[in-house]
Formats: sequence, structure tokens, C-alpha cells
Amino acid sequence: MLEAFDFVIFGGAGDLAQRKLIPAMYRAHVNNELGKGTRIVPTLRKAKAVEEYQDFIREAAEKYLREGEFNRKQWDSFAKMIHPKLVDIASKDEKWDDLAQFLKKGSKERVFYLATPPGVFGTCCKNLSQCGLITDTARVVVEKPLGYDLESAEAINSEIGLYFNERQIFRIDHYLGKETVQNLLALRFTNGIFEHLWDAKTIDNVQISISETVGLEGRAGFYDGAGALRDMVQNHLLQLLCLVAMESPNKLDADDIRAEKIKVLKALRPLKWDAVKEHTVRGQYVTGKMNGKDVPGYLDELGEDSTTETFVAIRAHIDNWRWAKVPFYLRTGKRMKKRCAEIIIQYKDVSHRVYPEEAGQLHPNRLVIRLQPEELMQVIITSKDLESTDIRLEPVVLNLNFADTYKKIVSDAYKRLIMDAAANDPSLFIHRAEVNAAWRWIDPIIEAWQRPENKPHAYEAGSWGPEAAEEMLEQDGRSWFNVEEFTSPEAN
Ligand code: BG6
Repeated sequence: MLEAFDFVIFGGAGDLAQRKLIPAMYRAHVNNELGKGTRIVPTLRKAKAVEEYQDFIREAAEKYLREGEFNRKQWDSFAKMIHPKLVDIASKDEKWDDLAQFLKKGSKERVFYLATPPGVFGTCCKNLSQCGLITDTARVVVEKPLGYDLESAEAINSEIGLYFNERQIFRIDHYLGKETVQNLLALRFTNGIFEHLWDAKTIDNVQISISETVGLEGRAGFYDGAGALRDMVQNHLLQLLCLVAMESPNKLDADDIRAEKIKVLKALRPLKWDAVKEHTVRGQYVTGKMNGKDVPGYLDELGEDSTTETFVAIRAHIDNWRWAKVPFYLRTGKRMKKRCAEIIIQYKDVSHRVYPEEAGQLHPNRLVIRLQPEELMQVIITSKDLESTDIRLEPVVLNLNFADTYKKIVSDAYKRLIMDAAANDPSLFIHRAEVNAAWRWIDPIIEAWQRPENKPHAYEAGSWGPEAAEEMLEQDGRSWFNVEEFTSPEAN
């Protein structure tokens, strides 16, 4: 159990607080992970909102907790920890003094969670500092988007850095809080069978794909200014790429892991101007069908014209010894056919075919690591058809569903990360140098996409994205791999 701490949420009535932060704290309470005396302090801008907060947040929890998780008795004991406070982040008035007084009477361990637009991060930190609330045992958690390019990210980081030192700044990427994502390191660095087959000598290509079925989800204001590259690639996809490609850290410690990740980001081959056209595809969904139902296109949802991308595919290269000439294909999109986050490691073909043509096609081995919705690993091997007396070869999927081993996978990335911040463990948070290295690679892509010829390609909602993304891999004699489609009877 953690020591008691004060968890202050700036933006206490916002989407993030409702959907993720309060449910995460409720789960921690139900699991008995919160020390006695822990307080949750959501800040709100209107007095009425403060009065009505308990009902408001309970209703939100009922909506956003998983089915069967909400329990009225548990909630009532949890609600006693919640102390909403009236604070206008932007104006340093007596409300800040009330907040300061309240906090100074509580635990010395303070976690300030800035669940607000980055535009107010600086003011908020300044006010915290002027109120004398930034002690050695205080830390600040910041959410993405951390800027929209390197320059703005640096400006935000410098502003926060005026008040908190780097050790106190916890930059969240919720993908790193997913148990399945952490398991990538365990899989790689504790199992010889993988690590010995993890380089350019054995691997033909790597695909990292996060497909979503949701559309704008009422976040038009934010999303249209960001797009898929900033929203998903700069952070989540590049973090996954780092975990797949990094060298083994000397030990499992925040600095060592970050140092290895930064090396990968720095080794990413820069994409500039014409290279951007050749190695990236942007897309935007148009009306289509999902689960048999018509769904509107991005522009219909948005209600205005826009060239923001809702899909990205990138052919990336990591210029180092281990990964020389191995393409890393990255893909993410909204309103795609299926919700799935997975990593495909495709091995090279065998060097010599000993079986006759009549035995059938040889398929390369593939390791599939699915992070969500199911947590599983699959190895695709070629086997003799055991039911036939002829020599017939076919691809067979060896399945390891983690749910069979771990019967109660109840992961909650936000709970994990909040508990880590409260325990002052920065291992799963992003260092400023990582943010910068990621933006350094992303910025030229954004710049080149400003050119009129780089407008997004249309793709139907409910598809796997634009044709151009398929063509990019076809040029390399490869294709995006989808295990269900690969093993379905029609495909064989
Ligand atoms: C967020 C993005 O960071 O991640 C969203 O802003 C996206 O646009 C979400 O939907 C995906 O997260 P998950 O955990 O549902 O895969």
C-alpha cells in the first residue's frame, strides 16, 4: 500500500478526469492500494460545479467504469476522499490561498495532475510555486499533447521546468502503463529464444499497428488541430517502436531504459521533403459502413473542411547495426475495420526450399504480439498438414492467449501510472530528451505535409485505410499482415 498522498486534478470536471483519472483512483481504492488519509482534490471553475461535483462524478463513474465495477457502498467510502475546490487556474486570487491552506494541512506527498490544455500549464505551475506548494516531495504529471512541434514542446517543457526540476516532472504516455506494453521488455530480455532472433540477420520487417474503430468522439476541437501523426505516432507508436528496437538496458532503471530508447529515436532515419512523400501515407475517412451501419465521414462529423489526417502509415528505418535495412512499418487510424494494437515481427524466408512446388506455398514465420483488445502472442509456423498423407505444407498458428494463464487481467494504464507517480517512480514516464527526439523526427514530416500534393487520401470508414498504404508495402513486395484474414478459410 502507498503512503497517503494528495492527488490534485487541475481540470477536475474534464473528460480525462471523468473517463480515466477518477475511475483509476476508484479502482486503486477498491484494491486497497491507497494509504489512509489520501485525498483527491479536483479543481473546478464554478461554485455550482463544486456543490454538484459528488453527484456529477458518481454518475460519470457509473458510466465509465467497466461493467459490474461500480459498487455503491465502495463508492460512498471512496467519495469521502474527494474534496473538490473552486480554483480558476488563470487568476491568482484568494481561491488559490484556500487551496494552499487545504493542501498544507494534508500529506507532504503531492501529485499535481495537469488535466488541462497545455496553454495553462505555465500559469498553473507559477501559481503553485507562489503558493509555496512545490516542495521536494511534490511532482507534476502532464498529459499529451506536449506541444504541436519541437519548438512548442520545448517552450512548454521550459515553462514547467522553471518551477519543477526534471525529476519531479512525470510526462504521461498511457501506452507505457499498459501491462502488455511493459511485457514487451520482459518478453525480449528474459527469453533467449526471442532475443537471439531479434535483428537484421533474421528479421525481414516489423509492423506496428494501432487501429481504432472510434471517430472523433466529441473531441473535434483538439483532434482537428492535431491529427493522427501528433495524436498517436509522435508518442504511442514511437514508444512501441523504441521498446521493440532498443538494446537491452544494463538494468531495469528509469535512466538506463530512457537512454536506450533515446538512442533508437536518434537512429531513426530522417524523412525530409520527397522522402516524406515516398515513405508516408496520410488518410482521412469518408463515409462508410461499420458493423453494417452507415457512419459519417470525418468532414461530416467535423462540420467543416479540413485536411487533418485520421490515418497515417510510415515506412521507417533505424540506421544502426542491429536494424540495418529492416523496414519498420507504422500504421494507425480512426474508423478502421477493427480495434487492435499489435506488433508483427516477420522473419526472413528460409534460405533454400527443399519441398517440391506441389507441397504448397511457404509462408515466412511471424511473431504476433497483440496488445489489445486481447493480450496474446502467436507464432506462425509452416507445418505439414497432419491430416493428409500427401506432403502438403500450410501455415499454422501457435496461440498463446495470456488470459489463459492470467485469469484476471484487469489492467488500467492510468491507475498504474498514477500509483507510480505517487510512489515517485519515473520508469514509465517520458523524459524531456525523449519528447524532443521524437519531435525532431516528426517535425519534417509535418512540414512536408503542408505541401498541397500531400493532401490526405480518402478511405472508407470501416476499411483498413487508404489504398496508398497497401501500395507502399506492395512496392517492397510485402503486405500488411492480419492474422485473422491470413488464416480465414477464404484466404487459403
Ligand atoms: C489517446 C489519443 O492518446 O489514445 C486518442 O488521444 C486515442 O485519440 C487513444 O483514441 C487510444 O488509446 P487506447 O488506450 O484506447 O488504445
